[in-house]
Amino acid sequence: MFNYDKENSIMIKKQLELVNEAKEILESNTTTVSVNGKHYDRIIPSRDFYVHQWLWDSAGIAMGRVHIDEEAAFNDLLSLIAGQWHNGLMPHIIYNPGETRYYPPADLWQTARFTRDGIKTSGITDPPLLAIAAAYVCDQATDEQKKRDFINTLLPCMMAYHDHLKRYRDPEDCGLLTIVHPWESGTDDSPGWDSILNRIDLNKIPTEIKANVDQNRKDTKYDNAEERPTRNDYYRYIYLIELFKDLEWDYTKILHETPFAVKSILFNSIWERANEALAALLQTYRNQEEAHKYQQWAEQTQKALTNTWSEEHNQYCDIDVTQGRHQAIAVPTNAMFMPLYAGAVPDHQLNILLNRLSNDDEFFTEYPVPSTAINCRFFDKDRYWRGPTWPITNYFIIEGLKRYKARHQDADQLANLLIQKTVQMIKENGFWEYFDPLEDGSEDCEKGMGFSSFSWTAAILIQLLHMMK
Ligand code: GLC
Repeated sequence: MFNYDKENSIMIKKQLELVNEAKEILESNTTTVSVNGKHYDRIIPSRDFYVHQWLWDSAGIAMGRVHIDEEAAFNDLLSLIAGQWHNGLMPHIIYNPGETRYYPPADLWQTARFTRDGIKTSGITDPPLLAIAAAYVCDQATDEQKKRDFINTLLPCMMAYHDHLKRYRDPEDCGLLTIVHPWESGTDDSPGWDSILNRIDLNKIPTEIKANVDQNRKDTKYDNAEERPTRNDYYRYIYLIELFKDLEWDYTKILHETPFAVKSILFNSIWERANEALAALLQTYRNQEEAHKYQQWAEQTQKALTNTWSEEHNQYCDIDVTQGRHQAIAVPTNAMFMPLYAGAVPDHQLNILLNRLSNDDEFFTEYPVPSTAINCRFFDKDRYWRGPTWPITNYFIIEGLKRYKARHQDADQLANLLIQKTVQMIKENGFWEYFDPLEDGSEDCEKGMGFSSFSWTAAILIQLLHMMK
């Protein structure tokens, strides 16, 4: 006979073990560094390759970490804002001194004159999750005084970051920000970027750039070249950085000149939600007047996201806006579900998205949600962002579906199923960076890919278990 209590207590024990494992990963991936006599506690994504601090990783990590260690969650975000530029930009990488395991190195960016306290950073940003994380951490943390100090420190920085993004990435005031490098999308190697990157003529890329990449690139040194971006794409990534450096990191010039400019629906869905979060924080901790501007930006972005729907392709589309273009990119990646997260989805589109998400010929695989639909010609189960399933994007899709639970009961059911499947994926395979989404019949097949003991994966697991409570 089924013994509910026994089954239940075994399950709780298993969950506790998992949380402990996640906690250990987060602790061992936290490192204290000193720069010009100041100390920072930084969380790195993984010990093998991603040995610096990443913007959207750290923000996502703080949201999981607050459930087990409030102080560490505060530090994840406080050490991030120490890397903010004078002009408000939040760079996507903050470099740890003395580390040589990552390429490109800090000095390639030449950004020292923009940063504070001798901190070295990249010159581009990535999805603006910061305000969402700050609001979440504040909501969950219990120490009222620490929370108030924390938010008072963070608020001016977040306002400066949002003002910077609005000014330089949406000068036309259309509600959608422009990203200028595939790394800013967070989904670096997405097939959605191929048509734009392929326009960058390899013959025009100086041979010194190619030689530098060939000699120094490090991500393919782990016997994993088939999982990583191609050599030609890597030349183009570094070429873009060199171009922006020549333009002295002046984003007015960069937006004009860049051969890669996209209104990304993932980036902008997070932008929408981040403005909602910032407005709510200002309302609570400062005043209605300051909150109003960000609330309006959120509403404007929500409408603009709704308008990225393509009737022809039945999906929300990124838009190629390179040098005056306005061309929808109709590649079926999991970014098409991101407008759910931003609350931008009318009923008709909601039904279509729910159908596509639960369709096992497209997105509902053994471990959903693959980064590219499996029936798409660009699907590649091994190459990152072209097929594998990522816990972070699952998290956004789950939160997005939850936003629609009152409108459609399938949205709630699908969200719960995705929580279960994501937890199961991590439990069965370990805390990997990303996962093979397909079933292949064999029991002992390795499904985890990329780098192991991955901080994001650990933090998201904690958050998902919290959602299951
Ligand atoms: C990869 C991912 C990016 C992430 C980084 C660190 O570059 O594409 O989204 O921020 O790794 O984990």
